[in-house]
Amino acid sequence: MSKKPLILGIETSCDETAASVITENDQGKPIILSNIVSSQTDVHKEFGGVVPELAARSHIEKIDLIVKKALNESGIKIKDIDAVASTAGPGLIVCLSVGLSFGKAFASSINKPFIAVNHLEGHALSPKLVSNLNYPYLLLLISGGHSQYLNVQGLGKYKRLGTTIDDALGEAFDKTAKLLGIEFPGGPQIELWAEKGDPNSYDLPKPIINKGGCNLSFAGLKTAILKISKTIETEQEKFNLAASFQKTIEEILKKKTKIAFNEFEKQNDIQDKIFVVAGGVAANKKIRSMLINLCKENNYQSVFPPIEICGDNAAMIAMVGLEKYKLKLFNKLDHPAKPRWPLDENALFLKGAGVKL
Ligand code: KG4
Ligand code: ZN
Repeated sequence: MSKKPLILGIETSCDETAASVITENDQGKPIILSNIVSSQTDVHKEFGGVVPELAARSHIEKIDLIVKKALNESGIKIKDIDAVASTAGPGLIVCLSVGLSFGKAFASSINKPFIAVNHLEGHALSPKLVSNLNYPYLLLLISGGHSQYLNVQGLGKYKRLGTTIDDALGEAFDKTAKLLGIEFPGGPQIELWAEKGDPNSYDLPKPIINKGGCNLSFAGLKTAILKISKTIETEQEKFNLAASFQKTIEEILKKKTKIAFNEFEKQNDIQDKIFVVAGGVAANKKIRSMLINLCKENNYQSVFPPIEICGDNAAMIAMVGLEKYKLKLFNKLDHPAKPRWPLDENALFLKGAGVKL
């Protein structure tokens, strides 16, 4: 029996310091040996968002410990690691630099290959950690920094079908939460408040709902919420606004996902249609159940990573590392941190979308 690859993954692109060791079994199914995530929520909550310098400092303080924990928990010896994979972008440059430098130094010290990983590719491949997934598939990536529909054709092969032209969906959840007085990141709390409110209380706008293919836009929604939030007084009104926001998001995603289905089918002549939803917002149960139903109606198999690997983690970075390792796709130690690194390099850079592409 040949030795199975052991990959150390490292993630520090934003406000999670994470390390993980994965391998695979004889059938090629990935096995997570450890997956340590240390969140910096407490560092940033008083500022209402991630402060890059504080995030980088916290990564520097914790990276040694987190990698050590991941190695200890995995039960493997350092010398048995076959490759080190670190997130190289997109993300905050001061944060990326910490995990990238650490990963390069680690790989070099044990004389093993180094692999630079695109964080978005990590989210895109995250379901492969737990389920068999064949290419091509349609991916909806919804997180704090990104919102896009992608035709995933293989490792490193992506066609972007649609993207946000302003805010990311997680950002819209967090900004709404902030206006309602919920601490950052408020997405999960909005979901809980929405359960206690009447979703039909407020008629909120659905920007570009009837144009732009499957592009998304949430900035106008945020402005509407800002206006309404100034008029509400009771707790129940807050619950009602959260419920109306949640409902509006579901309606936007339902309409745009149907368009993405059509686009995906135009580009792929296949019988087995697969729809994957990944990123932090994929943890939202109501969005999940709406999309699962939509898949049933349209003959798609729906795939959601388990909640614990929806948010940022290093197992998904190690997963990309594992696939690249098997293809011997290694990187040199001078590989730069790339704050902007779209999965589809040919996709248009939409003005106003910043690094979210
Ligand atoms: O993927 P992720 O951990 O980090 C990024 O790469 O951005 O996503 C974090 C985002 C945050 O905006 C957070 O509020 C949102 O995902 N989020 C949720 C839920 N859980 C996390 N949004 C809505 N409902 C949730 N249950
Ligand atoms: Zn992410």
